[in-house]
Amino acid sequence: MSYVRITGIGSFLPNSPVSNQDLVSRGVDTTDEWIVERTGIRQRHFAHETQTSSELAFEASRAALRDAGIDAAKVDLIVVATSTPDFIFPSTACLLQSKLGIKDAAAFDVQAVCSGFVYAVAIAEKFMRSGSHRCALVVGAEVFSRILNWYDRTTCVLFGDGAGAVVLEAAEEPGILATALHADGRYHDILSVPGNVCRGRIVGSPFLQMDGQAVFKFAVKVLGDVGLEVIRAAGMRTREIDWVVPHQANIRILQAAARRLGLPQDKVIITVAKHGNTSAASVPIALDAARQDGRLQRGNHIILQGVGGGFTWGAVLLRF
Ligand code: ACO
Repeated sequence: MSYVRITGIGSFLPNSPVSNQDLVSRGVDTTDEWIVERTGIRQRHFAHETQTSSELAFEASRAALRDAGIDAAKVDLIVVATSTPDFIFPSTACLLQSKLGIKDAAAFDVQAVCSGFVYAVAIAEKFMRSGSHRCALVVGAEVFSRILNWYDRTTCVLFGDGAGAVVLEAAEEPGILATALHADGRYHDILSVPGNVCRGRIVGSPFLQMDGQAVFKFAVKVLGDVGLEVIRAAGMRTREIDWVVPHQANIRILQAAARRLGLPQDKVIITVAKHGNTSAASVPIALDAARQDGRLQRGNHIILQGVGGGFTWGAVLLRF
């Protein structure tokens, strides 16, 4: 049976960065000091009002395909993780397929909020290991700015827009070594956008709401646990891990989760300062940043980790 390897990585952040001070100037009742101290976030990017997740996904995908050195026509599976799709339907993956000019590939979205990219990679890997597909484009793309309540300072300062993508190809050598996915729907209400569209109206709320402290505690515990789970599943030791690329929610969550995992802080890729929480896009954006700055090297053992609304969480351990 063949393995599945990441052969290309790309990311895209729209427009110029918006600093914490810019948010204050726009009327948000906050300070740069509060945001930096509690979250580590210094800036984020916001898409134009008309710019959609599939457009951000398109830019990130083009970069990933270029990095892999392959033509889009080779892709036979497209999985897009997003909670802010262009439409209710068709899927963002189908819109991306059309933008890339790919004629025939299975294409669908995955909705697992901030764990979405890790879910999407694990799903694509299972398709490919079955032998049904040989080249997947896996994307996380979000325009969270659309679902932020600018009068709720406890949430609106945390999020940003962006996209990241990887190309997965069948290979003779590993590759993805272990995956683990989890969910516990009993915690659906600690992070949610509890609204829907019915007969032309929004029923409930179209804005993100969060119990910050409950999310914090949950995220630290499950990130640590699921990291250990994939290390054990791959028959490895924590000290053999070169990098952890966690969902970029909040620097304090990432530091606490690394402690729980028994990993030194300098092995954790942290990019949240530059783009805030971009939900499903954050892991591939961080992965791309680490690749671009030379930290990530071929042969490194890496854990990708996600945690988010649902509640959902998961991890992928791979040899890069
Ligand atoms: N600016 C200034 N003050 C603020 C802001 C703000 N943006 N937001 C809240 N405050 C104030 C509150 O009003 C409160 O004031 P009070 O004491 O006068 O009542 C004070 O700060 C403390 O509020 P708390 O909510 O208790 O702040 P806490 O220390 O819990 O920090 C935070 C809030 C940063 C959201 C924290 O709970 C956290 O990091 N939670 C994790 C949430 C997270 O990262 N979510 C991302 C999405 S989930 C995911 O991706 C997995």
